[in-house]
Amino acid sequence: MILEARSLRYTYPGASGPALSDASLTIAAGERLALLGINGAGKSTLFQMLNGSLKPAEGKVLLDGEPVSYDRRGLSRLRQAVGLVMQDPDDQLFAATVAEDVSFGPVNLGLSEAEVRARVAEALEALGVTALAANPTHMLSFGQKKRVAIAGLIAMRPSVLLLDEPTAGLDPQGIEELMQALSTLSAAGTAIVIATHDMDLAWSWSTRVAVFENRAIGLAGPPEAVFSESDRLRALGLRPPVLHEIGLALVQAGVLTALPRSMAEMKALIARSKL
Ligand SMILES: Nc1ncnc2c1ncn2[C@@H]1O[C@H](COP(=O)(O)OP(=O)(O)OP(=O)(O)O)[C@@H](O)[C@H]1O
Ligand SMILES: [Mg+2]
Repeated sequence: MILEARSLRYTYPGASGPALSDASLTIAAGERLALLGINGAGKSTLFQMLNGSLKPAEGKVLLDGEPVSYDRRGLSRLRQAVGLVMQDPDDQLFAATVAEDVSFGPVNLGLSEAEVRARVAEALEALGVTALAANPTHMLSFGQKKRVAIAGLIAMRPSVLLLDEPTAGLDPQGIEELMQALSTLSAAGTAIVIATHDMDLAWSWSTRVAVFENRAIGLAGPPEAVFSESDRLRALGLRPPVLHEIGLALVQAGVLTALPRSMAEMKALIARSKL
């Protein structure tokens, strides 16, 4: 276990009710967690609590079992360990050029020039934006900004990387490259958490799924278990992944013996079946 939200409660100033109420979640090293919930469910609020941008009114955030302290040292330690890619890239990018933006974090970590250069090159490559390195950030497209914002966080090599709707606005190849880069990071031990409305992505990519219900995490577990609760998900305004539903129908019809997590898996399973 590395990062834990324990019974968090928070109400925005002036709001009529809480944005989070008794919200708990534990994030383990190397896991790929998908955080699901309708608009306004509390995903972005929880992310901001997990990296210390917001302080819970009640409850605790724990890093490696220790409650976070909200002084300068505590917050700097938390933010070094927990990177947050915000929903809107314009909230994240601020430097004049792409290369400057991505190198800002590593430079601030006090790394050598060679190490900074290597990390920036690696992060730009992973997000497919190497060719944009010298470009002004304000002249990028939305999807390009999003990729650069993610590259900037990857270059920091946090223990936990929180990404708020990272695929929204990316083209199909961009999504594939990003998820591949995130899988590589998780294989090296980084915990990756994505808040997403893409159920199909959550099904194909995550090792665990957590779902918001009534301002808290109501349902969490392996994707197979969470997505089998289709009535509960529908009641929450969510729909199960298409591939999961098709797979379930084919398993029930006796055609398949397992649920496919990707199109390639589906084809392989069908080829092996008696269909
Ligand atoms: N800056 C703010 N001031 C006041 N209320 C806010 C603010 N940001 C969010 N809220 C409220 O807090 C609740 C949770 O919002 P949050 O942004 O965390 O939801 P979300 O799950 O990220 O939604 P989305 O899918 O639309 O991004 C909502 O009821 C929202 O209206
Ligand atoms: Mg949000």
